[in-house]
Amino acid sequence: MEIYWETRIIRGFSDLEYRGNFRTMKIKSVRGTHDLLPEATQLWQEIEAAARHNFGLYGYAELRTPIFEETELFARSIGAATDIVQKEMYTFADSKGKTFSLRPEGTASVVRAFIEHGLHHDGGIHRLYYIGPMFRHERPQKGRYRQFHQIGVEVLGSDHPALEAEVIEMLHRFFEHLEVEGLELLVNSVGCTNCRPAYIQLLREQLNTQASDWCSQCRQRAETNPLRVLDCKTPDCQPLIEKLPTIEEHLCEECRRHFSRFRNYLDLQQVPYRVDPRLVRGLDYYVRTTFEMVSDRLGPTQNAVVGGGRYDGLVEILGGPATRGFGFALGIERLVTVMGERPNKSQSVAPDLFLGFLDDASFEECIQLASHLRGEGIHAYLDFQGRSLKAQMRLANRLGSRFTCVVGEEEMTSGRFPLKRMEDGHLVTVTREEISVQVKS
Ligand code: HAM
Repeated sequence: MEIYWETRIIRGFSDLEYRGNFRTMKIKSVRGTHDLLPEATQLWQEIEAAARHNFGLYGYAELRTPIFEETELFARSIGAATDIVQKEMYTFADSKGKTFSLRPEGTASVVRAFIEHGLHHDGGIHRLYYIGPMFRHERPQKGRYRQFHQIGVEVLGSDHPALEAEVIEMLHRFFEHLEVEGLELLVNSVGCTNCRPAYIQLLREQLNTQASDWCSQCRQRAETNPLRVLDCKTPDCQPLIEKLPTIEEHLCEECRRHFSRFRNYLDLQQVPYRVDPRLVRGLDYYVRTTFEMVSDRLGPTQNAVVGGGRYDGLVEILGGPATRGFGFALGIERLVTVMGERPNKSQSVAPDLFLGFLDDASFEECIQLASHLRGEGIHAYLDFQGRSLKAQMRLANRLGSRFTCVVGEEEMTSGRFPLKRMEDGHLVTVTREEISVQVKS
């Protein structure tokens, strides 16, 4: 999809006319995008902190990449025939005619950065994670947005099936930390460049023999991307899909062995899973192991919270040396839906100390006092809306402040301040320096 900036809209008006004409127009967020209000961001921060903590235990470090890249990066990585590249990218040209796209996923950018910065030179295993927004121009519905957020993990430099199982075990630990239950792990092998072409040819032949029975999308996919037919959700296609040969029956010996070892390692880690021979994923870079973690809390179609797999050829496709890769991304919006309503365990925004004042002079004293206390790590709060002292104390109650301290002329001259613990009304008089000690204790 091409986006052109309509400069005409702005250039046609002088600044004054522009403001005058549009003064009453309310601008809303773009369809498929969302604001996260403070009550929501607390849970998001908790999720992100759990990711940083748990991934850190396994040696992962954060990588941040730009949110737009040359379009060709995504076309080459994700696959020119995929829905993402064909229909869902936000693509725009700069004044020199170069084409860029907002990133629809993170793997391509991580691999690009991996090659660009020569991370492969030390020959070791690189464990990377990223957190950030992704963009896909899909029809918005529950669990499907145009700007959504992923937490992703990529491990480059090994094809060991035990590492795949370790990544999945790490995900389990992360979900356990957040007390998320009810996710089902689906695994499959989509073969490799040796065995998959013959399977795809077989699929294409079968699809073509009964072409009229399939939905129009499947008929099209029979030509462009036959594997994706297995993922079709149209009810009429389901009995036909059941009769198609599965890839499991057509894996080469090496892929079969890899898949079996991967499952053994999952058993060893006591990670439950179900083999789903129809799990094919919507990105072309996968070989061998693919997996998803699904939840029935998300409904029948957009039910994957996590998707991932192995992508051994991708570094080479993007011009780097032969390097094996494996990873996943989880959708934060979908995870939040699965987590549902839960008591907010995050740090409260209630102040530690509410500073009340009587007049202009004590207001200035409170400003200085608040600054001093914040330097001591105390959440100090004071009113900026000209409230009376009584109204200030009502506000302190409403905010749930732990302590209050009212400052007037007497306190300023004596240097002693009345500190009231709101929980039980206990009152102590302390020096300026002692305030933070009392509040912290
Ligand atoms: P993906 O399956 O396209 O894989 O996306 C991963 C996750 O992102 C999905 O399971 C879902 O939770 C979330 N997601 C995707 N599209 C949307 C959307 N439109 N609205 C809301 N959430 C969405 C990838 O992106 C691969 N890069 C994963 C990967 C990393 N494979 C190997 N390494």
